[in-house]
Amino acid sequence: MNRTFDMFLETEVPKDELIISRTDLSGKITYVNETFADISGYEPEELIGKPHNIIRHPDMPQSVFANLWATLQRGESWEGYVKNIRKDSGYYWVFARVSMLVKDGKVIEYKSVREPISTAKKIEMQNLYDTQRSQEEGRSRVVMYVPNDKLAQLKEFEI
Ligand SMILES: Cc1cc2nc3c(=O)[nH]c(=O)nc-3n(C[C@H](O)[C@H](O)[C@H](O)COP(=O)(O)O)c2cc1C
Repeated sequence: MNRTFDMFLETEVPKDELIISRTDLSGKITYVNETFADISGYEPEELIGKPHNIIRHPDMPQSVFANLWATLQRGESWEGYVKNIRKDSGYYWVFARVSMLVKDGKVIEYKSVREPISTAKKIEMQNLYDTQRSQEEGRSRVVMYVPNDKLAQLKEFEI
């Protein structure tokens, strides 16, 4: 991964538009609306057919998505806070409601409808997910100023 300061650029999610995507049962994107494409920074045709983790942000704990899939597999809808990464490495936060599309009694697709969240909620969820990730995966998110001589040492590590 070679992500830089673009990671700190947040995209505002519009309040009055629905952000929709659908996937097949394996999580491959089958449909996105225009707002979804705009916010993620992709063209719709770049997203269709790709696994939905194309916009997975490294700050998201694995357990959140494990819970999402386990919930869907039980036949229930899932709701939760998600930080997504844009094509340009920026990010955006949403509250997502994921549910099943059923035809003739069978689940044929999944659908997610998202809405914006408050700044206070973003801070709360960033802190919660930072803690969860650190406990579950031993990975920490560090944002700090570093003196240049220390930076040169850090650059010897591949991140
Ligand atoms: C309808 C639907 C919408 C999803 N939306 C997102 C999303 O916006 N961002 C995301 O990171 N994962 C989303 N996922 C979960 C991904 O499929 C995937 O599980 C997740 O990105 C974690 O990636 P991984 O399974 O490769 O670890 C969605 C799944 C479904 C079924």
